[in-house]
Amino acid sequence: MISGVRGTRDIVPGQVERWQYVEMTARRVCELYGYTEIRTPIIEREELFTKGTGQTTDIVQKEMYSFTDRGDERVTLRPEATPGVVRAFVEHALEQALAQPKLYSLGPMFRYERPQKGRYRQFHQLNVEVFGVADPSIDAELMEMAASLIHALGITGSELVINSVGCPKCRPKFSAALMKALGDDVERLCGDCQRRAKTNPLRIFDCKITADQTIIDALPHSVDYLCVDCGKHFEEVQGHLNRYGQAFAISHRLVRGLDYYTRTTFELVQASLGAQNALLGGGRYDGLVKQLGGPDRAGIGFAAGLERLVLALPENRVMAPVPDAFVASFGEDVREEAFIVAKTLRDAGLRTLIDYDRRSAKSQMKRADRAGARYVVIVGGDELARGEVTLKDMTTGEQRAVARESLLELLKTTEPGQ
Ligand code: HAM
Repeated sequence: MISGVRGTRDIVPGQVERWQYVEMTARRVCELYGYTEIRTPIIEREELFTKGTGQTTDIVQKEMYSFTDRGDERVTLRPEATPGVVRAFVEHALEQALAQPKLYSLGPMFRYERPQKGRYRQFHQLNVEVFGVADPSIDAELMEMAASLIHALGITGSELVINSVGCPKCRPKFSAALMKALGDDVERLCGDCQRRAKTNPLRIFDCKITADQTIIDALPHSVDYLCVDCGKHFEEVQGHLNRYGQAFAISHRLVRGLDYYTRTTFELVQASLGAQNALLGGGRYDGLVKQLGGPDRAGIGFAAGLERLVLALPENRVMAPVPDAFVASFGEDVREEAFIVAKTLRDAGLRTLIDYDRRSAKSQMKRADRAGARYVVIVGGDELARGEVTLKDMTTGEQRAVARESLLELLKTTEPGQ
């Protein structure tokens, strides 16, 4: 037997209904807030991510599924959706085409990470982006929408954490302050942090190594180094959140693992998920559109991990759909007619199963029961001759003969057990 690739998962019946529910709810909430769907390719040029996601990120340095294709082109299975959506926004001049560029996508992403609960190599995101709005009201609306989605899914106990990482004007001062505060302690940090200190000191806040934490806890906070404009923006974001009645906490460590963020960063975290506790995360990326060859436009967005939303979804939130009817036929001479009965039921919009394998009466009834069918429609010789079938209500066990013409009417109007 050939097993699936490590870090990938099959979404099997019984689970898939929970996924469909999450996807349907995500679409509904996005559309409520004025987003339209965009679908971009899974495969993109490698340079889109080295430039977009950023050279100093773990994603680009060690997690990308990149290869040279048969035409000698370097391509990558997208590790995140943002650069692809930005590319499409620029390539199709969506700014002109759309009154308000608010775009959402659903689909698979690929990162070569160490798999664990809530972390996979192929995973799925709901990704949301807004272009051309620099005003802090959108930052707050986006976070409020994210919280609404979680609420609509019935997930409780999550917390919104926010931070501001400043802009290219004030961030260098903060990085310098970080390095100064670290001083000789840099050498006592882990290898990864020593590398981060050279390439992007902010990333040190991402460190999970226990021994490093005392040093990291004593480091300065980015919000204390914001320029006037960034400070005002952050204040206003908080003002809007308060007006929405949206609770939040400021986390000085929330720098996020991607290079493009400016000003606002945020995550919704769910303690019950364990180590991989971010249901979703995002932030503002005001320089990215320009950096990827487009006009100088603001951008902001977030992505939610669908695996994590499905994990956090309350157990009884979604029921697998049960068949309305199972058509059982007793005898070779009526078998053909049973298929016609099934087709009539399906044409009328009833979920209908049927036996194909000429099973015994007992075994067909057993199958109907196992499938959870609400009714069994029994097609038998004598009844058929009278223009009737037998209808068995699987909830009450009650059985009666009904005219074929009234079958549909009965099935559509009768609740089980009545
Ligand atoms: P991210 O924080 O890398 O951000 O990922 C967003 C979410 O995707 C995470 O909070 C988590 O729920 C889920 N996720 C990430 N990696 C995995 C994994 N290996 N397995 C399962 N779930 C995972 C981004 O991707 C940005 N593009 C978000 C964004 C959009 N920022 C602005 N616009």
